[in-house]
Amino acid sequence: MNVELYEKIWMWAAGALLTLFLGVIVLMSAVEAVQPPGHLETVDPTTLSSHPEFGKPAASLASDGGVTVSVVASMFEFSPNPIRVPANRRVTFRLTSSDILHGFEVANTNANVMVLPGYVTQFTVTFDRPGEYVIACNEYCGLQHHNMVGKLIVTRDAP
Ligand code: CUA
Repeated sequence: MNVELYEKIWMWAAGALLTLFLGVIVLMSAVEAVQPPGHLETVDPTTLSSHPEFGKPAASLASDGGVTVSVVASMFEFSPNPIRVPANRRVTFRLTSSDILHGFEVANTNANVMVLPGYVTQFTVTFDRPGEYVIACNEYCGLQHHNMVGKLIVTRDAP
C-alpha cells in the first residue's frame, strides 16, 4: 500500500499526540494522585435516609468560615431545594445520589459534576455574584430528567 509522505507525517503526529495525552493522564494519576472529584469516599445509597449527613442534607457553616452543603440527588429532584449560600465564601458541595447517576450543574458557573450512587462527589467553589442560579441535572436519568432542576440562591451575607 502506498501512503503519501504528508499522510504518513499526519498519522505519526496523531499517534504521537494520543501517546502524549495518555502518558499525561497516567503520569498525573500516578505521580500527582489526580483523580475525579468522586474522592473515592463511599456511602451506602440504600441507607441514606438514616445517614448522619445525607439523612438531612443541608447547608452548614464550617469551622474555617466556609460553608458546606450536603446534597442528595434522586429521581427527579435535588435536596435541599433551594440551596442558600453566601457570596464570596468558599462553598464545599458534598453530593451523592440515592438511586442512579445524575448531574449537578450550576448554570453560568464552573460548578458542574457527576453525582453517583454509592460515592460522595466533593468540590469547592466561590460564588462572587449574588443572585439566583438554576441547578440542572445534565445526565440523562429518566423520563422526567428535563424537569430535574433546582435553585441556588447566593446571598450577600452569611446564611
Ligand atoms: Cu437527574 Cu437527569
